Amino acid sequence: MKLTSLQDLYLEELRDLYDAENQLLKALPKMAKAASSTELKDAFEDHLQMTEEHVDRLEQIFERLGEKPKGKRCKAMEGLIEEGKEFLAENVHESVLDAGLISAAQKVEHYEIAGYGCVRTYAEQLGFEEDAELLQETLDEEKDTDEQLTDIAVECINVEAEEESETEEESETASASGKKATAGKQNAKVEEEEEEEEEA
Ligand SMILES: [Fe+2]
Repeated sequence: MKLTSLQDLYLEELRDLYDAENQLLKALPKMAKAASSTELKDAFEDHLQMTEEHVDRLEQIFERLGEKPKGKRCKAMEGLIEEGKEFLAENVHESVLDAGLISAAQKVEHYEIAGYGCVRTYAEQLGFEEDAELLQETLDEEKDTDEQLTDIAVECINVEAEEESETEEESETASASGKKATAGKQNAKVEEEEEEEEEA
C-alpha cells in the first residue's frame, strides 16, 4: 500500500491494531488458563472482554471511513505472543509463573498504548472527533489494565517469586510447594530483608 497522506498512515496503523487485537483475543484465554492466581486469571478474563470491545470500536471506525475491517499482520504482536508461548514452554516454577505472565502481558499493553496513542492523535489532527473519542476510550482501558497488572505484581506475585526462590536456594532438598504465602509471612520476610540490608 502506498502511503501518501496522514489518512493513509492512520488507516495502516488502525489495521495493525485490528490485527493485534484479534491475535490477543486468541492468546488471552490461554494466558488466563496458565495463570495460577485467581486475581490474575480474572484480570486476563476481564481484559478479554475489553478486547472484544476494542475490536468492535475499530470496526465502527473502519465503517465510518468507508473501509472494510481488515487487519494487516502485526508482527510485533506476533513476536510478543510468541515470547509468551516460549516462556510457558520453559520449565517454569509455579512461584514465578504469574510474574512472567504479567511481564509478557505488560509488554503487550505497552505496545497497544503506543499504537492507540498515535492513532488517537492522528484522528484529532484529521478532524475525526468521534474516532478520537473511541480511540481514547480504548487507550484509557489499556492504561488501566497496565496499572492493574502492576498492582497485582507489586502486591503479591513478585514478592512470592522472590521468597520462593530464596527458600529453594536455602534448602535444595526442600520440595517446592508453590503455595501462596500469606500476607503476614510476606511482610515478615520484607522486614527481615530490610534488617539484613541495614546490617550490611
Ligand atoms: Fe486492546
